[in-house]
Amino acid sequence: MGDLFDKFQPLIDQREALLATGLTDPFNLVMEEVVSPTVAICNGQPTILLGTYNYMGMTFDPDVIAAGKQALDEFGSGTTGSRVLNGTYQGHKDCEAALREFYAMDHAMVFSTGYQANLGIISTIAGKDDYIILDIDSHASIYDGCALGNANIVPFRHNDVEALEKRLGRIPAGAGKLVILEGVYSMLGDIAPLKEMVAVSKAVGAMVLVDEAHSMGFIGENGRGVAEAEGVIDDVDFIIGTFSKSVGTVGGFCVSNHPKFEILRLVCRPYVFTASLPPSVVATAATSIRKLMHGADKRAHLWANSQKLHTGLKALGFTLGTDSPQSAIIAVIMPDLEKGAAMWEALLHEGLYVNLARPPATPGNLTLLRCSLCAEHSGEQVDQILGMFAAAGRATNCIG
Ligand SMILES: Cc1ncc(COP(=O)(O)O)c(C=O)c1O
Repeated sequence: MGDLFDKFQPLIDQREALLATGLTDPFNLVMEEVVSPTVAICNGQPTILLGTYNYMGMTFDPDVIAAGKQALDEFGSGTTGSRVLNGTYQGHKDCEAALREFYAMDHAMVFSTGYQANLGIISTIAGKDDYIILDIDSHASIYDGCALGNANIVPFRHNDVEALEKRLGRIPAGAGKLVILEGVYSMLGDIAPLKEMVAVSKAVGAMVLVDEAHSMGFIGENGRGVAEAEGVIDDVDFIIGTFSKSVGTVGGFCVSNHPKFEILRLVCRPYVFTASLPPSVVATAATSIRKLMHGADKRAHLWANSQKLHTGLKALGFTLGTDSPQSAIIAVIMPDLEKGAAMWEALLHEGLYVNLARPPATPGNLTLLRCSLCAEHSGEQVDQILGMFAAAGRATNCIG
């Protein structure tokens, strides 16, 4: 009888070989204490956090924390039910109102995670006879949403407008078409040419969904994302987002102006057949979202951090995922997994945490050290980070 775990053997072997070299497991780090949005204690040592999605540093905002504590006291620890049964509290409605205000859109639907928001919205609106045209580097939750709905999937080359247009031209006339794009692609930190992509999609009558998980709160005049920055937000049919990044808690959402949007609450399985978010979580999310509406100064500081880190890493001789900083993510490309893991560990010894990203999660089978900046990183911390990259890079022969 075949062991169903046999298919994992190559991964088990690769992992064991890596750990046999004496390397700290890069996928098993424990944050023993979290001091602030930018510092934690790891292995007993103060460590600068450069690998969280806490872009706007909201996790320790006093108003956000107070709102969560109050909701915990007044509404208890959990709803123990689905949004369509006993799991809609005033806090869930308020959180959806905050999202409608934030995006200036008619409808907002909150899910238990961003993953479930993609799973639910995509699988519900695009079914068996429909076509989903998506960037090949789309997030796993987008692919899983496509698979759950059983739609026909047509991938196109990453960020290639012409390829998208060609694929759209080959879809049978009259078929339902959904184009799925991301504002910021989280592996390399590059942004999508949304202006052109939305235009070619709309020209053939396709609906457009944009996942703004890594841009919400930061990119665009009001932090609404790349669609706002590129002036096409009114042409986008659905925006998907998450509370687990700039908002600083957990949860996901979809906002839309579609007049029939509310029917999704009754037919979207990943919304109906799961418990709703705890009252404390929706209270923290709503408070954070309302504060992000007034986050222009933080956004400006985060851009300055991103510029400084990008310029500094380039000057040190590292190869980066983008020629210029396009988001709060700066990816350092490593020659291979062994070097990447050694550099990751050397940085940790220096007192810096970054994300090690490896195939199959990465485009082009790249090994990346993904740096994600926070609006709460001070200029001095960014200088410190560059010093740590210089020391670790030299110690591991990644730079000369
Ligand atoms: C583009 C994108 N969409 C969706 C998600 C899922 O978000 P969540 O953490 O809320 O499940 C992620 C998370 O990494 C993401 O990068």
